[in-house]
Amino acid sequence: MEERTLIIVKPEGVARGLTGEILSRFERKGLKLVALKLGRVTPEQARVHYGHHADKPFFPDLIAAITAGPVVFAVFEGENAIRLGRLLIGATNPLEALPGTIRGDLALDSLHNLVHASDGPETARAEIQRFFGVDPGLLGEEEGK
Ligand code: CMP
Repeated sequence: MEERTLIIVKPEGVARGLTGEILSRFERKGLKLVALKLGRVTPEQARVHYGHHADKPFFPDLIAAITAGPVVFAVFEGENAIRLGRLLIGATNPLEALPGTIRGDLALDSLHNLVHASDGPETARAEIQRFFGVDPGLLGEEEGK
């Protein structure tokens, strides 16, 4: 199924100079880059984005980490882009992420795991709307797609 997924290169990924390395993993897999920007996650956006973790002990650290500096937002499109995106990033805990995945190859701890990828069609739609401010279905329309 043709899908769009939101990828965020987290602040530690941008700070470590890994943006190109991370985005290239999705491109090399065959997903198509349809939107890209450098920006920041505001504390308000972070609390919504991670709302399902609000009761976790690491929640304050999570908000601090994602708002700590510039991030790169990207939307990739392709067959099963959401499941493929999750496969490419690897498990949340880098100790469990397999070699060959982004986290398995490049990250050391759960909080600083470099990259976010949407985990389902509804969250993908909401996250693209949240960070790009447009309905995902309209991305690329201006190029006459
Ligand atoms: P992500 O899967 O993108 O979204 C939820 C984030 O919560 C996850 O990445 C980690 O950054 C963070 N997280 C999940 N579990 C833990 C944990 N046990 N300790 C610290 N951070 C965590």
